Amino acid sequence: MTETGPRIVVLTGAGVSAESGLGTFRDKDGLWTKYDLAEVATPEGFAADPAKVHAFYNARRKNARAAEPNAAHGALARLEAAGALIVTQNVDDLHERAGAAGVVHMHGELMRALCAACGATWEAPDVMEVGDACPDCGGGPCRPDIVWFGEFPYHMDRIAEAVQGCELFVAIGTSGEVYPAAGFVEEARGAGARTLEINLEATGGRFDQRILGPASDVVPDWVEGLLGR
Ligand code: APR
Repeated sequence: MTETGPRIVVLTGAGVSAESGLGTFRDKDGLWTKYDLAEVATPEGFAADPAKVHAFYNARRKNARAAEPNAAHGALARLEAAGALIVTQNVDDLHERAGAAGVVHMHGELMRALCAACGATWEAPDVMEVGDACPDCGGGPCRPDIVWFGEFPYHMDRIAEAVQGCELFVAIGTSGEVYPAAGFVEEARGAGARTLEINLEATGGRFDQRILGPASDVVPDWVEGLLGR
């Protein structure tokens, strides 16, 4: 930990959960090749057809519940226990199920529900439906607690402070296509941090170092190298 925050900040994307069987978004068979994100991942899409949006997230929630964390999630939980901060774009709970306790979910969580009327959040049921009532205000509409395109990600102040205060910024399994997450590497570089990308292939981001390979192979090796065991 530096005097202001974690020495190491890790940003994860869909690639860290790919080997757990959860789809990515922009790879060959990615989610956005099968669904129109405007219809299922925007406030306008939800307003136009809430049943379709609930069906999309009910299916993703079911897949996430059936998936198991992989060795990358486990290694990152150990790195978090050693003081690193995990910021994730992912909405699955595989980091937590691998033992991570303080993960910052900047795009929300599949396993949480949100009341669009009063802002209350609660553990999502397996199946959310149009007409579900908010347990706090009794109103609604109730929606998945997911940050949609056009909405502001969660915890941005905390993330900015950590990214600008860290000594090492590591992006794992993310294409770097979506802002503000895609801009974190430049923020970290500008603040003097070293930067590392771990991915199947190099993305367009300006990283000092790259480790290429499947996350469940290369992340444990990298973490063991850092933790010295
Ligand atoms: N190991 C490591 N990296 C992998 C693996 C793997 N086994 N499989 C895929 N990848 C990499 C791909 O090379 C790609 O760079 O994971 C990345 C997945 O990119 P995207 O599908 O764009 O996912 P992500 O970067 O998380 O998307 C960011 O976009 O749609 C929004 O909100 C959504 O959080 C998501 C955001």
